[in-house]
Amino acid sequence: MAALSSRVRLSMWLFGLGLVATGMGLVFVLLARAYKTQPSAPVPRLWLSSEQRGRLQPTFTPEERQELKELLRGSIRIQTVSFAPDDQNVTALAEFEPYIRKAFPAVFSAAFIQHEVIGKYSHLFNIKGSNPQLQPYMLIAHIDVVPASPEGWDISDPFSAEERNGFIYGRGTLDNKNSVMGILQALEFLLRRNYRPQRSFYIGLGHDEEVGGNNGAKMIVAELESRGVQLSFLLDEGSFIYEGLFPGIEKPVPLIAITEKGAVTANLTVKLAPGHSSVPPKRTSIGILSEALAKLELNPMPNLFGQGPEIMMFEHLAPEFSFPLNIIMANLWLFRPLVARFLERQPATNALVRTTTAITLFHAGVKSNVIPPSANAIVNFRIHSAQTVDQVLEIIDKTIDDKRVEVERGDAFDPLPVSPWDDQTFGVQVLRQTILDVFPDVGSIAPGICVGNTDSRHYGSLTNAIYRFNPVIFGPSDLPRFHGVNERISIEGYERQVKFHFQLIQNSDFQEPSEPHNNLHEL
Ligand SMILES: *[C@@H]1O[C@H](CO)[C@@H](O)[C@H](O)[C@H]1NC(C)=O
Ligand SMILES: *[C@@H]1O[C@H](CO)[C@@H](O)[C@H](O)[C@H]1NC(C)=O
Ligand SMILES: [Zn+2]
Repeated sequence: MAALSSRVRLSMWLFGLGLVATGMGLVFVLLARAYKTQPSAPVPRLWLSSEQRGRLQPTFTPEERQELKELLRGSIRIQTVSFAPDDQNVTALAEFEPYIRKAFPAVFSAAFIQHEVIGKYSHLFNIKGSNPQLQPYMLIAHIDVVPASPEGWDISDPFSAEERNGFIYGRGTLDNKNSVMGILQALEFLLRRNYRPQRSFYIGLGHDEEVGGNNGAKMIVAELESRGVQLSFLLDEGSFIYEGLFPGIEKPVPLIAITEKGAVTANLTVKLAPGHSSVPPKRTSIGILSEALAKLELNPMPNLFGQGPEIMMFEHLAPEFSFPLNIIMANLWLFRPLVARFLERQPATNALVRTTTAITLFHAGVKSNVIPPSANAIVNFRIHSAQTVDQVLEIIDKTIDDKRVEVERGDAFDPLPVSPWDDQTFGVQVLRQTILDVFPDVGSIAPGICVGNTDSRHYGSLTNAIYRFNPVIFGPSDLPRFHGVNERISIEGYERQVKFHFQLIQNSDFQEPSEPHNNLHEL
């Protein structure tokens, strides 16, 4: 017995040691992975410092700072509201053109800039560079805004662009007149400093983004297609520099969205013979439809974390997380299922890992004592990158599994293609460099995903390199301001946005690594 028990003890001890050793090995592997150089070495090797490059410095005089602020405020006061695709404030849209003409005289008078109005109220600028060999790029933004009623705002009128505590409040300050005005302002300041780009670029300002972009962005794209234009990259609004939004990350992190979710609207109808409520059938159309809707809510679409580009976002952010999240995020090969469960707990992160289900409309019934002849509901799904419209519709049918429920497919489009994210892609290099120029204190720059949609989705025929990024620091308190009340931008934040575009235009003048010029660098 004694011998046996000591053997048992010995083997238990060995087993324990084995566990510890395996554990140490594992910890070592995990640490090694957490601290190895992050996938996005932030400074691309081809870049020289700004002084070496002889660039114009993004420093503005006090008069210029006053000017840029007042011009942004003036643009907010023009109420370019989109109520519906066929209901926009066209008075305001028409006022916008004379406004920008007056605000940016150098842009409108430069011999090498061509300006056109497209689809009545959208604007297309072609800035012709001195070197026609370089492939052009494009910056886009939108002039229209969502409606805003004064209720709930800290200022009396959401279109007054009032200044409070270093912020400008008003509809459109973040979405997206900051980009519209910021891009043109940066170009204006560059031109006043006698800048002439080498690389051509386009600026596209759509007037109906908030209602689909069919008359603005789509027309601009058709025009560029007819001219055979291909772009080296496209920059639109989309995601921000997020601060305090990720638990465990201290530094602000710029996310550049490389794709957008798809969408499908399903129209569900149940029709049954009407009758008197005194002799009801066992089931009514309302009951049957409610059951189908409950099944959709209780059986969410599969969690696809790891099958789409959202995993790249967490891999790139891994070094920014505090312990132990940094270890976990750097080792998604091991912790993926755990992280997947964790992410689905909050609506904001749940939207990243699956196709979401939102019941948005329900219509049924005619009178309190009449069996309803029909019931109808609308369900809006936003599709994860790893799924298609058809796959989602198939899951809907399987989940409802009830012949009495007719499912009709409404507006639908697949998720957008994923733009390249690597050191060889010119647009990625330019964006990284520009972010580091203007926001030197940020953490890792990571690829992100737009859960909503922007005008950029119309531009797929012109380039595969579409990036969605608004160069503004965005905190938790900003989330409800977006399309909500008290939308605002800090004056300092807007100045930085102008600097961002000022640097971006200059940084884009450098040639692509594949072009011969860069061989010089290897000497
Ligand atoms: C439309 O815009 C103009 C100019 O900004 C403004 O005066 C007018 O009140 C707006 N109308 C509506 C219905 O928003
Ligand atoms: C949904 O379908 C019903 C019945 O076919 C139709 O009357 C209704 O207009 C549709 N709703 C939408 C928003 O398409
Ligand atoms: Zn927008």
